[in-house]
Amino acid sequence: MIEDSAEDAELLQDQLLVSGLEAEFERVDSELELRRTLDGTPYDLVLSDYQMPGFSGDVALKIVRSKRPELPFIFVSGTIGEDIAVQALQNGAIDYILKHNPVRLPAAAARAVREARLEQERAMVEKELLRSQRMDCLAMLAAGLSHDLRNVLQPLLIVPDLLSTYSEDARVHKLGKIIAESVRRGHDMTESMLSFVKGSRNVGSEVVKIHELLDAIEMLMQGTLRRGVTLRLQVPDEEFSVRANFTEFQQCVLNLCINAVHAMQGRGGEILLSVEAHPDSPDTHLLLRVSDQGVGMSDEVKQRLFTPFYTTKPNGTGLGLMSCKRFIDGVGGGVRVESTLGEGSEFILTLPRYMADAEPALADRFVDGGGRLVMVVDEDATRLPLIANALSAQGYLPLSVADGAAALRSSAEVSQIDLIIVDSDLSLMSAATLLTALRNRGVSAPVIALQEMEEALPHQVLPETLVNGVVAKPPEIPALFRAIQNVLDVDPPR
Ligand SMILES: Nc1ncnc2c1ncn2[C@@H]1O[C@H](COP(=O)(O)OP(=O)(O)OP(=O)(O)O)[C@@H](O)[C@H]1O
Ligand SMILES: [Mg+2]
Repeated sequence: MIEDSAEDAELLQDQLLVSGLEAEFERVDSELELRRTLDGTPYDLVLSDYQMPGFSGDVALKIVRSKRPELPFIFVSGTIGEDIAVQALQNGAIDYILKHNPVRLPAAAARAVREARLEQERAMVEKELLRSQRMDCLAMLAAGLSHDLRNVLQPLLIVPDLLSTYSEDARVHKLGKIIAESVRRGHDMTESMLSFVKGSRNVGSEVVKIHELLDAIEMLMQGTLRRGVTLRLQVPDEEFSVRANFTEFQQCVLNLCINAVHAMQGRGGEILLSVEAHPDSPDTHLLLRVSDQGVGMSDEVKQRLFTPFYTTKPNGTGLGLMSCKRFIDGVGGGVRVESTLGEGSEFILTLPRYMADAEPALADRFVDGGGRLVMVVDEDATRLPLIANALSAQGYLPLSVADGAAALRSSAEVSQIDLIIVDSDLSLMSAATLLTALRNRGVSAPVIALQEMEEALPHQVLPETLVNGVVAKPPEIPALFRAIQNVLDVDPPR
């Protein structure tokens, strides 16, 4: 209540309480007091006199509108004339009541509060909707971006394999390995982005040694550690391993470490990354802890941590922990948080442990092509020569054609085709049409389709009756040769 007369205020209060409104009241009668009270308590309604000595209702309305725009404001005055009342409503008051005729007050007050609450709910729903739309946008952006990025990386995926077949120089091999590794990580990241968007994960996994992962993180964090913040690793056993995608795993722990650095900003302290066998199931699970000596969290923050877009930082996205959680869920693990306000926080990850003798090694050697004729039909001008090169390096005879029509022409010029590799997304003549036409002309070679595996992207799927094997795009050379071996039914060398 903004009211200079204590008696008037009391009268209005009685009126409202008698009508059954459950409320508490506070009275102010100066600008300073009004500003101070508005900062503190979450009021539901303002009732204001219009003319007070040293303070005017118009000013009060302006202050309330600017500080708490959602708070309903009703003038209750003995003096308000029609002109002023209209002006007041235009300025944002929602009603005016005459003091000498206050019967309408309880109903007006109740309605004002009810409508303000409804409005708040509506605003929240709208915000939630906006948030989910933002999520959709983000998903589309990420899908597009990762798709394009994958196309950029595609040729690079194949180059290192070729380099090593063309040169005996050990230095070239070493450089090729570095390229291969970096490109594979880049490619993994695009895949993670896509699977993140789709909410599934089909990202290839590998055996990740925790000590290697944490060493890499220590290196990456060097630039991020602020003054007074140190990072310590505790890995008692170098064989501790988890089957996961290295890049995603690294991103997850990095997110936790960066949060820890933020939490220790201006305080300093130690981040401890430690791993141990799970005390309850040491053979099957590991515990990975990321603990900090930062500000800690309130219960509210603790509860909302993993919610998308929940952030307490001015520049945060609030996606860091959400993506951590997705990774952890994806490998079949779990995460728990312990935190004390003012002392620090600890994220405790339970991860399925990988034991070395659980899986046989992959035989990664392939048979010689023995001069078999392989027709490669691909409209992608970078991919075509790369696949052809890989084939000839392995002893096959590649016959590269850039589209369906060329494939039909070439097929007439050779006596026998041993294998057809075809992009399932041919645009000029569809792959299905081409394969059917080849069949009709008596070409009976087995077919390997290069197929887009990403459901988020537009692509064609060839009927099973037309293909004998499928290789995911972008084709990795080992996967391609494995498929070739399968469809040609040749035994790999011992
Ligand atoms: N180690 C921590 N100590 C204290 N609070 C934390 C810690 N880790 C996370 N939080 C709280 O959880 C919130 C959500 O974290 P999350 O990583 O998801 O997003 P963010 O860090 O705010 O933004 P971004 O990761 O995009 O920079 C943070 O804003 C912070 O309030
Ligand atoms: Mg974060």
